Amino acid sequence: MKILSKDTLVDHAGLRIFRMVLDAPLISRKARAGQFVVIMASREGERIPLTMVESDSQAGTITIVFQETGFTTRMLGALEPGDSLYALAGPLGHATEIKKYGNVVLLGGGVGVAEIYPVAGSLKQAGNRITVIIGARNKGLLILKKELESLADNFYTATDDGSEGRKGFVTDILEEVLKKEKQDLVYAVGPIPMMKKASFVSGAAGVRAVVSLNALMVDGTGMCGCCRVSVGGQTKFSCVDGPEFEGDKVDWEELGLRNSMYCDKESHICRLNSLKP
Ligand code: FES
Repeated sequence: MKILSKDTLVDHAGLRIFRMVLDAPLISRKARAGQFVVIMASREGERIPLTMVESDSQAGTITIVFQETGFTTRMLGALEPGDSLYALAGPLGHATEIKKYGNVVLLGGGVGVAEIYPVAGSLKQAGNRITVIIGARNKGLLILKKELESLADNFYTATDDGSEGRKGFVTDILEEVLKKEKQDLVYAVGPIPMMKKASFVSGAAGVRAVVSLNALMVDGTGMCGCCRVSVGGQTKFSCVDGPEFEGDKVDWEELGLRNSMYCDKESHICRLNSLKP
Protein backbone atom coordinates (compact mmCIF):
# COMPACT_ATOMS: atom_id res chain seq x y z
CA MET A 1 0.00 0.00 0.00
CA LYS A 2 2.99 2.21 -0.50
CA ILE A 3 2.64 5.35 -2.60
CA LEU A 4 5.09 4.97 -5.48
CA SER A 5 4.51 8.26 -7.23
CA LYS A 6 2.31 11.32 -7.03
CA ASP A 7 1.72 14.09 -9.49
CA THR A 8 -0.49 17.13 -9.46
CA LEU A 9 -3.00 17.21 -12.32
CA VAL A 10 -4.69 20.42 -11.18
CA ASP A 11 -3.63 23.16 -8.79
CA HIS A 12 -5.93 25.97 -9.74
CA ALA A 13 -8.03 28.49 -7.85
CA GLY A 14 -7.66 26.60 -4.58
CA LEU A 15 -8.64 23.26 -6.10
CA ARG A 16 -6.18 20.40 -6.35
CA ILE A 17 -6.44 17.06 -8.13
CA PHE A 18 -3.73 14.44 -7.69
CA ARG A 19 -2.76 11.22 -9.42
CA MET A 20 -1.09 8.55 -7.29
CA VAL A 21 0.42 5.22 -8.26
CA LEU A 22 0.10 2.67 -5.45
CA ASP A 23 1.89 -0.59 -4.86
CA ALA A 24 -1.02 -3.06 -4.85
CA PRO A 25 -0.03 -6.32 -6.61
CA LEU A 26 -3.04 -8.39 -5.54
CA ILE A 27 -5.58 -5.74 -6.54
CA SER A 28 -3.81 -5.00 -9.83
CA ARG A 29 -4.17 -8.63 -10.90
CA LYS A 30 -7.97 -8.54 -10.60
CA ALA A 31 -8.81 -4.92 -11.40
CA ARG A 32 -11.06 -4.18 -14.35
CA ALA A 33 -12.42 -0.93 -15.82
CA GLY A 34 -15.25 0.58 -13.79
CA GLN A 35 -14.23 -0.90 -10.45
CA PHE A 36 -13.08 1.03 -7.41
CA VAL A 37 -11.07 0.70 -4.21
CA VAL A 38 -11.82 1.88 -0.67
CA ILE A 39 -8.99 3.73 0.98
CA MET A 40 -8.14 4.70 4.54
CA ALA A 41 -5.40 7.28 4.52
CA SER A 42 -4.76 6.86 8.25
CA ARG A 43 -5.96 4.68 11.10
CA GLU A 44 -8.25 7.43 12.39
CA GLY A 45 -9.47 8.40 8.93
CA GLU A 46 -12.76 7.55 7.24
CA ARG A 47 -13.05 5.13 4.36
CA ILE A 48 -13.49 6.68 0.93
CA PRO A 49 -14.19 5.03 -2.43
CA LEU A 50 -11.93 5.98 -5.36
CA THR A 51 -12.03 4.72 -8.92
CA MET A 52 -9.00 2.94 -10.27
CA VAL A 53 -7.85 4.86 -13.31
CA GLU A 54 -5.23 2.35 -14.36
CA SER A 55 -3.87 -0.97 -13.20
CA ASP A 56 -0.69 -2.73 -14.21
CA SER A 57 -0.54 -6.38 -13.20
CA GLN A 58 3.07 -6.69 -14.39
CA ALA A 59 4.27 -3.83 -12.23
CA GLY A 60 1.77 -4.70 -9.46
CA THR A 61 0.41 -1.17 -9.32
CA ILE A 62 -2.89 0.68 -9.48
CA THR A 63 -3.42 4.37 -10.19
CA ILE A 64 -5.98 6.59 -8.48
CA VAL A 65 -7.05 10.15 -9.21
CA PHE A 66 -8.72 12.23 -6.53
CA GLN A 67 -9.73 15.77 -5.84
CA GLU A 68 -9.29 17.40 -2.46
CA THR A 69 -12.85 17.97 -1.36
CA GLY A 70 -12.84 17.41 2.38
CA PHE A 71 -10.86 16.27 5.38
CA THR A 72 -9.94 12.79 4.15
CA THR A 73 -8.97 13.70 0.61
CA ARG A 74 -6.84 16.53 1.99
CA MET A 75 -5.17 14.02 4.32
CA LEU A 76 -4.54 11.77 1.33
CA GLY A 77 -3.22 14.71 -0.68
CA ALA A 78 -0.68 15.46 2.05
CA LEU A 79 0.93 12.02 1.65
CA GLU A 80 4.03 11.69 -0.50
CA PRO A 81 5.81 8.90 -2.40
CA GLY A 82 7.30 6.49 0.13
CA ASP A 83 4.39 6.98 2.56
CA SER A 84 1.92 4.15 3.03
CA LEU A 85 -1.87 4.13 3.23
CA TYR A 86 -3.36 2.61 6.36
CA ALA A 87 -5.74 0.38 4.40
CA LEU A 88 -6.73 -0.38 0.85
CA ALA A 89 -9.54 -2.76 -0.18
CA GLY A 90 -10.52 -3.80 -3.68
CA PRO A 91 -11.27 -4.25 -6.43
CA LEU A 92 -14.89 -3.49 -5.52
CA GLY A 93 -18.09 -3.09 -7.52
CA HIS A 94 -19.05 -4.57 -10.85
CA ALA A 95 -16.75 -3.96 -13.75
CA THR A 96 -18.11 -2.16 -16.81
CA GLU A 97 -19.63 -4.48 -19.39
CA ILE A 98 -17.05 -4.29 -22.14
CA LYS A 99 -18.07 -5.55 -25.56
CA LYS A 100 -18.47 -4.28 -29.08
CA TYR A 101 -21.48 -1.93 -29.03
CA GLY A 102 -20.58 0.04 -32.14
CA ASN A 103 -20.57 3.80 -31.56
CA VAL A 104 -20.11 4.84 -27.95
CA VAL A 105 -20.10 8.34 -26.46
CA LEU A 106 -18.27 8.83 -23.15
CA LEU A 107 -18.97 11.96 -21.12
CA GLY A 108 -16.81 13.06 -18.20
CA GLY A 109 -17.35 16.08 -16.00
CA GLY A 110 -14.85 17.42 -13.44
CA VAL A 111 -12.98 14.63 -11.68
CA GLY A 112 -15.41 12.18 -13.35
CA VAL A 113 -13.15 12.53 -16.40
CA ALA A 114 -10.69 10.24 -14.60
CA GLU A 115 -13.38 7.59 -14.30
CA ILE A 116 -14.18 7.43 -18.00
CA TYR A 117 -10.50 7.01 -18.92
CA PRO A 118 -10.14 3.25 -18.20
CA VAL A 119 -13.59 2.56 -19.64
CA ALA A 120 -12.75 4.47 -22.83
CA GLY A 121 -9.55 2.43 -23.20
CA SER A 122 -11.31 -0.90 -22.72
CA LEU A 123 -14.19 -0.01 -25.06
CA LYS A 124 -11.75 1.13 -27.72
CA GLN A 125 -9.80 -2.11 -27.39
CA ALA A 126 -13.06 -4.04 -27.83
CA GLY A 127 -13.45 -2.46 -31.26
CA ASN A 128 -15.86 0.38 -30.53
CA ARG A 129 -15.73 3.76 -32.23
CA ILE A 130 -15.57 6.16 -29.35
CA THR A 131 -16.50 9.80 -28.98
CA VAL A 132 -15.18 11.43 -25.83
CA ILE A 133 -16.63 14.66 -24.42
CA ILE A 134 -15.00 16.10 -21.31
CA GLY A 135 -15.80 19.25 -19.41
CA ALA A 136 -14.95 21.37 -16.41
CA ARG A 137 -15.68 24.84 -15.10
CA ASN A 138 -12.58 26.20 -16.84
CA LYS A 139 -9.44 25.18 -18.72
CA GLY A 140 -7.32 24.93 -15.56
CA LEU A 141 -9.59 22.23 -14.19
CA LEU A 142 -9.61 19.91 -17.21
CA ILE A 143 -7.77 16.66 -16.59
CA LEU A 144 -6.42 13.81 -18.77
CA LYS A 145 -7.10 15.75 -21.96
CA LYS A 146 -4.08 14.42 -23.84
CA GLU A 147 -4.64 10.84 -22.72
CA LEU A 148 -8.30 10.80 -23.74
CA GLU A 149 -7.75 12.71 -26.96
CA SER A 150 -5.23 10.11 -28.11
CA LEU A 151 -7.75 7.30 -27.48
CA ALA A 152 -10.81 8.89 -29.01
CA ASP A 153 -12.05 8.77 -32.59
CA ASN A 154 -13.86 12.06 -31.92
CA PHE A 155 -12.92 14.34 -29.08
CA TYR A 156 -14.61 17.45 -27.64
CA THR A 157 -14.10 19.68 -24.65
CA ALA A 158 -16.49 22.09 -22.98
CA THR A 159 -15.93 24.63 -20.23
CA ASP A 160 -18.46 26.76 -18.38
CA ASP A 161 -16.51 29.94 -19.21
CA GLY A 162 -15.36 29.01 -22.73
CA SER A 163 -11.65 29.07 -21.78
CA GLU A 164 -11.18 25.69 -23.53
CA GLY A 165 -13.32 24.14 -26.24
CA ARG A 166 -17.01 24.91 -26.37
CA LYS A 167 -18.54 27.40 -23.91
CA GLY A 168 -21.28 25.43 -22.23
CA PHE A 169 -21.91 21.92 -21.00
CA VAL A 170 -20.83 18.50 -22.15
CA THR A 171 -24.49 17.59 -22.53
CA ASP A 172 -24.92 20.38 -25.16
CA ILE A 173 -22.30 18.62 -27.26
CA LEU A 174 -23.89 15.23 -26.53
CA GLU A 175 -27.19 16.46 -27.98
CA GLU A 176 -25.43 17.49 -31.18
CA VAL A 177 -23.49 14.24 -31.47
CA LEU A 178 -26.67 12.24 -31.02
CA LYS A 179 -28.35 14.23 -33.78
CA LYS A 180 -25.39 13.90 -36.13
CA GLU A 181 -24.71 10.18 -35.99
CA LYS A 182 -26.39 7.06 -34.63
CA GLN A 183 -24.91 6.05 -31.28
CA ASP A 184 -25.30 2.71 -29.50
CA LEU A 185 -24.35 3.61 -25.94
CA VAL A 186 -23.72 6.68 -23.79
CA TYR A 187 -21.52 6.36 -20.70
CA ALA A 188 -21.48 9.32 -18.29
CA VAL A 189 -19.62 10.12 -15.08
CA GLY A 190 -19.63 13.46 -13.29
CA PRO A 191 -21.82 15.77 -11.24
CA ILE A 192 -25.38 14.60 -10.63
CA PRO A 193 -27.05 17.26 -12.84
CA MET A 194 -24.78 16.29 -15.72
CA MET A 195 -25.50 12.55 -15.44
CA LYS A 196 -29.22 13.25 -15.07
CA LYS A 197 -29.26 15.46 -18.17
CA ALA A 198 -27.11 12.99 -20.14
CA SER A 199 -29.57 10.22 -19.29
CA PHE A 200 -32.52 12.37 -20.35
CA VAL A 201 -30.93 13.49 -23.62
CA SER A 202 -29.86 9.94 -24.47
CA GLY A 203 -33.28 8.52 -23.63
CA ALA A 204 -34.94 11.12 -25.87
CA ALA A 205 -32.72 9.93 -28.71
CA GLY A 206 -33.50 6.28 -27.96
CA VAL A 207 -29.98 5.51 -26.78
CA ARG A 208 -29.14 3.60 -23.60
CA ALA A 209 -27.20 5.63 -21.02
CA VAL A 210 -25.04 4.04 -18.32
CA VAL A 211 -23.94 6.20 -15.39
CA SER A 212 -21.41 5.53 -12.64
CA LEU A 213 -22.83 6.92 -9.41
CA ASN A 214 -20.91 8.79 -6.76
CA ALA A 215 -23.13 7.73 -3.86
CA LEU A 216 -21.94 8.12 -0.27
CA MET A 217 -20.15 4.99 0.91
CA VAL A 218 -18.83 3.68 4.21
CA ASP A 219 -17.81 0.02 4.09
CA GLY A 220 -18.06 -0.51 0.33
CA THR A 221 -19.09 -4.14 0.77
CA GLY A 222 -22.88 -4.02 1.05
CA MET A 223 -23.10 -4.07 4.84
CA CYS A 224 -23.86 -0.52 5.98
CA GLY A 225 -26.60 0.50 3.54
CA CYS A 226 -25.14 3.99 3.26
CA CYS A 227 -24.82 3.91 -0.53
CA ARG A 228 -28.39 2.91 -1.30
CA VAL A 229 -30.01 4.40 -4.35
CA SER A 230 -33.39 3.85 -5.97
CA VAL A 231 -33.13 2.44 -9.45
CA GLY A 232 -36.24 1.44 -11.34
CA GLY A 233 -38.24 1.64 -8.10
CA GLN A 234 -35.94 -0.82 -6.32
CA THR A 235 -33.38 -0.15 -3.63
CA LYS A 236 -29.87 -0.90 -4.80
CA PHE A 237 -26.50 -0.58 -3.11
CA SER A 238 -24.05 1.35 -5.24
CA CYS A 239 -21.07 -0.55 -3.89
CA VAL A 240 -22.19 -4.09 -4.66
CA ASP A 241 -24.97 -3.63 -7.24
CA GLY A 242 -23.18 -0.77 -9.03
CA PRO A 243 -21.51 1.64 -9.22
CA GLU A 244 -22.99 1.66 -12.74
CA PHE A 245 -26.71 1.80 -13.39
CA GLU A 246 -29.11 2.55 -16.21
CA GLY A 247 -29.33 6.34 -16.17
CA ASP A 248 -33.01 6.58 -17.08
CA LYS A 249 -33.98 4.45 -14.06
CA VAL A 250 -32.07 6.34 -11.34
CA ASP A 251 -34.06 8.44 -8.86
CA TRP A 252 -31.85 11.51 -9.24
CA GLU A 253 -33.75 13.70 -6.74
CA GLU A 254 -33.29 11.14 -3.98
CA LEU A 255 -29.60 10.69 -4.83
CA GLY A 256 -29.10 14.46 -4.68
CA LEU A 257 -30.79 14.67 -1.29
CA ARG A 258 -28.73 11.83 0.15
CA ASN A 259 -25.47 13.28 -1.18
CA SER A 260 -26.28 16.67 0.34
CA MET A 261 -26.40 15.25 3.88
CA TYR A 262 -22.82 16.31 4.60
CA CYS A 263 -22.79 19.57 2.68
CA ASP A 264 -21.73 21.50 5.78
CA LYS A 265 -18.54 19.41 5.90
CA GLU A 266 -18.01 18.78 2.19
CA SER A 267 -19.10 22.10 0.78
CA HIS A 268 -16.87 21.90 -2.23
CA ILE A 269 -18.26 18.65 -3.58
CA CYS A 270 -21.76 19.95 -2.97
CA ARG A 271 -21.02 23.01 -5.06
CA LEU A 272 -19.74 20.77 -7.83
CA ASN A 273 -22.90 18.71 -7.72
CA SER A 274 -25.13 21.76 -7.45
CA LEU A 275 -26.50 20.37 -4.18
CA LYS A 276 -27.98 22.44 -1.40
CA PRO A 277 -27.58 21.61 2.28
S1 FES B 1 -21.13 1.42 1.20
FE1 FES B 1 -22.12 0.28 2.74
S2 FES B 1 -23.63 -0.85 1.71
FE2 FES B 1 -22.55 0.19 0.15
